[in-house]
Amino acid sequence: MTRAAVLCGTGSCLPGRRVGNDDLAALLDTSDEWIRSRTGIGARYWAEPGTATSDLAVGAGQRALKDAGGSAVDAVVVATATPDRVLPATAPLVAARLGLAGAAAYDVAAVCTGFVYALATAAGLIATGTADRVLVIGADTFSGILDPADRSTSVIFGDGAGAAVLRAGRPDEPGALGPFDLGSDGDGYDLITVRGGGSAQRLSERPPERGDGYFSMAGKEVFRHAVLRMSQSSARVLARAGWRTSDVRWLVGHQANRRILDRLADDLGIPRERGIGNIAEVGNTSAASIPLALDDAAAAGLLRPGDRVLLTAFGGGLTWGSAVLTWPRPATDREPVHPCPAPNTRPEGATDGHHV
Ligand code: COA
Repeated sequence: MTRAAVLCGTGSCLPGRRVGNDDLAALLDTSDEWIRSRTGIGARYWAEPGTATSDLAVGAGQRALKDAGGSAVDAVVVATATPDRVLPATAPLVAARLGLAGAAAYDVAAVCTGFVYALATAAGLIATGTADRVLVIGADTFSGILDPADRSTSVIFGDGAGAAVLRAGRPDEPGALGPFDLGSDGDGYDLITVRGGGSAQRLSERPPERGDGYFSMAGKEVFRHAVLRMSQSSARVLARAGWRTSDVRWLVGHQANRRILDRLADDLGIPRERGIGNIAEVGNTSAASIPLALDDAAAAGLLRPGDRVLLTAFGGGLTWGSAVLTWPRPATDREPVHPCPAPNTRPEGATDGHHV
């Protein structure tokens, strides 16, 4: 019998500091009106110095494991572009802090597409019998890499983490994940990037500059790619699944920009009101974006058993990916999703990430 990965729990975590558009307008040449009308974002949450990606990942992981009704997993996969350190990966630390030392643990780096890539690798672990239960977390703290003087990126990104627990099951049961569609185009390598900190920097002829550590993005080109790549990838995954667009009850696109999500829905022929999203409240949380949106929607009782759900994401690389699933179960009695204070369980010596 073919094995499939079945979703059995979700969780999320946001840092405590809510930053509204007016807070940014006090620091930068921008306005609430500009940010809302160009991006659909009203607020985002930024980690305080001292809070690392692993803190948010642990918070989301704890909640997802509780939601799944059991803490044992064979693997922990963390999708992130802002790991606690360049090396080692963040996942082993997260696993240990969740009491899961011994489980396989690794990071997936596909920026905003990271969670969908991580889901695909986790589904592969389950399909091959390598693991029976996997915790998949998308977590990022972009506030630590944003150029405070760059109004085009500072207003967009927020910090957060979202998580899902997958268990082994059958491909025909509700919650079964897949098919997937994944892709990349390294010709767009420079469009979303942090230039410094990697092995290529020492090949450069000029000495490192302070701005090298900052995130940079070619907004207009990224916008165009995001719509095109997510709509093409969605169409491919729907064809693979044998679903029509009218079968899709909920479209959960990467929460990059409200206007991108609207265009995506229009291109696919899915009514905009079928788009699930929390970008107005959390901004673009990169790898956390899809699981955060899913967890918010599950907690709000929006996702109902049997609802057909399309996930699609786009990010740096360039990368993109999509997956489908049928929502497995009624919402359980949930704690309110936010706030979720990041747990203070970091071991001695693991506090020197780039956020400190
Ligand atoms: N407040 C006020 N004005 C701003 C601004 C801000 N926060 N950010 C940019 N502007 C200005 C620009 O300086 C420019 O001014 P100019 O015409 O005097 O030069 C003007 O607004 C238009 O800039 P432009 O970059 O063309 O705006 P845009 O409509 O493309 O919106 C983004 C900018 C970043 C919101 C948009 O390109 C976008 O959302 N891109 C995709 C981002 C994304 O989703 N990334 C993640 C993908 S994983």
